[in-house]
Amino acid sequence: MNTSNMHHMPSELGCIYRNATIEDLDDIMTINDQFDLKWTHDKFMEVFDNKIPLILAFKQDGTLVGYLVYFCVLDEGRIINIAIDKEHHGKSYGRRLIHYSLEEMYNMNMHYALLDVKTDNFPAVGLYTAMGFQILCRRPNYYTGDVEGDAYFMQLRL
Ligand SMILES: CC(C)(COP(=O)(O)OP(=O)(O)OC[C@H]1O[C@@H](n2cnc3c(N)ncnc32)[C@H](O)[C@@H]1OP(=O)(O)O)[C@@H](O)C(=O)NCCC(=O)NCCS
Repeated sequence: MNTSNMHHMPSELGCIYRNATIEDLDDIMTINDQFDLKWTHDKFMEVFDNKIPLILAFKQDGTLVGYLVYFCVLDEGRIINIAIDKEHHGKSYGRRLIHYSLEEMYNMNMHYALLDVKTDNFPAVGLYTAMGFQILCRRPNYYTGDVEGDAYFMQLRL
């Protein structure tokens, strides 16, 4: 992986990661429900049904701090959902979780990581930018429904 694209990696990776199973769904929903851009229960069920990677990040004491969902198409890894428990924001868990997913993608021979993010989601845009993602384009009215707005389509070369 071209690590020069990924800035400011913490040297201590004090997290435990594993793939989620359906038994984790209640805990995932507890974090998911803290935010506006929330996924429905059914949407997560689709992830499990289709065996799409859903990575969980735990603290050393076993507390679930966040999750990330991505899927691979051709040589692209698409991050479609990430959330960190509000109580644990600003402690580099988001950065570490993305880094872990990028390593998985790289090991699966993906060449790019891609994602969409709401243009006014400053923490998320800040996180992706800090990790070296670049804005490819702005997608007007990408989000519709309960939450509306434009998206940035962002890319990182792995
Ligand atoms: C986006 C999110 C995952 C960030 O997680 P986090 O663990 O708090 O982020 P980190 O502590 O790893 O921050 C890493 C970098 O991201 C950026 N960042 C994080 N929070 C930020 C904020 N509130 N404003 C601006 N930049 C921010 C900073 O560059 C930060 O680096 P620094 O700490 O050296 O300044 C978290 O805010 C979240 O769960 N949001 C709700 C769900 C969501 O919006 N998901 C994204 C959908 S596209």
